[in-house]
Amino acid sequence: MNLTTHTDAARLNLNGSEIVLDMVEGIENEKAIDGLKLRSQTGVINLDPGYGNTGSCASAITFLDGEKGVIHHRGYELKELAANCSFLEVAYLLMAGELPNKGEYRNWEGLVKDNSYLGPSLQELLNHYPVRSHPMALLASVVLSLTGFYGDLGEEKFYQFDMDVVRLIAKTPLIAAHFYRRKRGMGYIYADPDMGYAENFLHSMFSKRIPEERLKIMADALEKLLIIHADHEQNCSTSTVRMISSSGANVYAAIGGGIGALWGPLHGGANEAVINMLEYIEMSGGDLTTVIEKAKDKSDPFKLMGFGHRVYKTYDPRAVIAKQVVDDLLEKLGVEEPLVDTAMELERIATEDEYFVKRNLYPNVDFYTGIAYKAMGIPKEMFTVMFTMGRMAGWLAHLLEFQADENRRICRPRQIYVGHPIRPFVPMVER
Ligand code: ACO
Repeated sequence: MNLTTHTDAARLNLNGSEIVLDMVEGIENEKAIDGLKLRSQTGVINLDPGYGNTGSCASAITFLDGEKGVIHHRGYELKELAANCSFLEVAYLLMAGELPNKGEYRNWEGLVKDNSYLGPSLQELLNHYPVRSHPMALLASVVLSLTGFYGDLGEEKFYQFDMDVVRLIAKTPLIAAHFYRRKRGMGYIYADPDMGYAENFLHSMFSKRIPEERLKIMADALEKLLIIHADHEQNCSTSTVRMISSSGANVYAAIGGGIGALWGPLHGGANEAVINMLEYIEMSGGDLTTVIEKAKDKSDPFKLMGFGHRVYKTYDPRAVIAKQVVDDLLEKLGVEEPLVDTAMELERIATEDEYFVKRNLYPNVDFYTGIAYKAMGIPKEMFTVMFTMGRMAGWLAHLLEFQADENRRICRPRQIYVGHPIRPFVPMVER
């Protein structure tokens, strides 16, 4: 790890005495106080609800500069990756650390294709799931259930990839497509080995209902969307995955937990919530001012969905790419989507409003992606599943990094207790 330690670099005056702490520095000049000694030397802990200023690890996968709107993976700018790579190429980069050469890519893609099937027992399991489940609930529990199928095989690594990793990348889209079809009373479709990753997912969902040229346009857009979703360093779901893995739980348990975390509307679930919000605006006559006022009203829990980000204090660079994908997709498909105009007008009003300007609230990745999915005919409830398919690569990259980290420890935050002081026990008859 390229982590530089500056010994005794930080001095802290605490209760009249000075303690000296080390500082660590990453390759983009990000600095952190090494707080481990803080408690052993002073008995004091660092309280940081929501972990807004807590570094949980050093990582070599993704760099974000939220003030400047910069994101790169393993040193490659996201916009270049989205413009030039397939999703599987980026997944390889995140996990292996380098872009694959032709041979490496052929092997990796071959492994994914070879595992792009749902065996009879897995189909049987899926067939017993209530069709009215949310697909994220199904996905989380089916991924966890994969432990029963593959959890204890004790396999060797294959072409440097763990087979669990390959399976999760290969089978997640098929599980999602199976859900979509079963809910509509349609049968399972086998993956087509001649198709690319996103194309195969769309084919497994829609079958031959989509003409080939249209399918290619949609697949091209989806590959880009999967890439912009692929990783975002220590976000809520990725930190969840790392945390579950820290207890020694297996990869399926960790990823199942990550899916649960992503589902929430403050995280990946925001893409579904954005479309609900835009549709509500359309249905109620397009009154954007009321929506903006509602979002600013502190007595109202409503927030402008797809706006704001813990790290970005400027425009989310992923939202820029998502907007380009939407424009390109709608033009190529020849689709008119009134929600785009509503979204753009909402963005214009919000980004000129003092409330949003003062708090640095800009569109995030979820603001435009739902419009692209809608234009492809993907139902709203599946939007966060699309995010999951992309983020799977990031989660797995972080798991591999975490498991290889010889300094890893079980993740176990502390707390400040504010409950009742210790008191005598009261037997039930006296209560
Ligand atoms: N609408 C209105 N006000 C907002 C919004 C919003 N979307 N986002 C933040 N604010 C306000 C907060 O109320 C707070 O105001 P205050 O300073 O007067 O109290 C201030 O901006 C700072 O916001 P925090 O809630 O402290 O920011 P935090 O980093 O905790 O939350 C989050 C970030 C969860 C993304 C938040 O901006 C939000 O809820 N956005 C809407 C949901 C969303 O789009 N989530 C997707 C995020 S991207 C992703 O996870 C893939």
